[in-house]
Amino acid sequence: MKDVDGNQYIDFNSGIAVLALGQCHPRVVKAIKDQAEKLIHYSWTDFYYQPIIDLGEQLTRITPGSVSKKVFFCNSGAEADEAAMKMARWHTRKPLFLAYTGAFHGRTFGTMALTASKPVQRRHFFPLLSEVTHVPYPYCYRCPFGLTYPECKMWCVDFIEEEVLKKFHPAEDTAAMFVEPVQGEGGYVVPPDDYFPRLKKILDKYGILIVDDEIQSGMGRTGKWCAIEHWGVTPDIVTFAKAIASGLPLGAAVAAAELMDWEGGSHANTFGGNPVACAAALQVLDVIREEKLMENATRQGAYLMKRLKEMQQKYPLIGDVRGKGLMVGAEFVKDQETKEPAPKELEEVMNKCFRRGLAIITAGKSTMRFAPPLIITREIIDEGLEIFEGAVKEVNAQLG
Ligand SMILES: Cc1ncc(COP(=O)(O)O)c(C=O)c1O
Repeated sequence: MKDVDGNQYIDFNSGIAVLALGQCHPRVVKAIKDQAEKLIHYSWTDFYYQPIIDLGEQLTRITPGSVSKKVFFCNSGAEADEAAMKMARWHTRKPLFLAYTGAFHGRTFGTMALTASKPVQRRHFFPLLSEVTHVPYPYCYRCPFGLTYPECKMWCVDFIEEEVLKKFHPAEDTAAMFVEPVQGEGGYVVPPDDYFPRLKKILDKYGILIVDDEIQSGMGRTGKWCAIEHWGVTPDIVTFAKAIASGLPLGAAVAAAELMDWEGGSHANTFGGNPVACAAALQVLDVIREEKLMENATRQGAYLMKRLKEMQQKYPLIGDVRGKGLMVGAEFVKDQETKEPAPKELEEVMNKCFRRGLAIITAGKSTMRFAPPLIITREIIDEGLEIFEGAVKEVNAQLG
């Protein structure tokens, strides 16, 4: 990327995990131009057009589960999650939801009640929808229960059943649980491998739907279309946005046809599934397949993690490195023993990187998030990491 002054940046951020194919990929640009010459808008709630049908079919294929599915289109991630909330309520006729501390699902009034990663997202907006209970995310580096995996026997899953469902949040009144398979805004946190299968068993036992928010982790970023596939779990509703159209506003909620059984008019919008955005999205899916970008995400992500883990050995400022594919977090601490978070140092490193030509942002309280476009090469990762390591080295030297 180049800014107005001609400064050049390596992109480790993708416009918050949006630019899967990088900036202005020629095939996306051409599809946008071609579609804009044919049909720019026609409300899909009342009339169909080819790109939305083609994309709908593709989304039903790339989401887990072989049942017949339906797709609801919208314009953003929050709207996709909002649709999932309404759909789950309409279908189950149950009022309650479960979500995680550290979660991010959007900032509309409905999704704000699910979101719980920073007080600023909710401050001065209360009362919210009161029907959401938050449970601790499986964040093993900072276990909310002070336990250690695997000796903990994953108390965080049993906690949901024993301390929440059996004590104050009746399962029979619960429509759905919202999950991010890799927690994004909350700090790029990856659960242990046996977490989601265990969770799904409990939710199935009580008939609670699982909404898989793939808005940040989906579209191949972790090396699979949906990050939840890493754990072999089939969710009931999947939501997409961000990278789906590599820069144009588009969101979608995909569910089993029998679950998306609301009647016409119970949920709709004017712009969702815009033909130009759908044409861009069709190219995104094709290019990810043809250029084997999920394989690239897996390969480059493993390399990125390896390099960051080497830095962790050298610099006490880096306390933890974790990730899947090209969704990688490096958590900053003042001391690797005490794990005291280092948000100031984190910001200093981020700003130094920016001044030296690396666009990168933070997540959670004290984590640097690495989410480059899926087309990134090893050479560019090396160039970006040289800038990052230079900044880490300087800030690390200031630690007491
Ligand atoms: C996991 C997740 N869900 C939902 C959203 C909301 O998406 P949007 O900003 O498009 O409303 C985000 C945005 O960061 C996200 O990361």
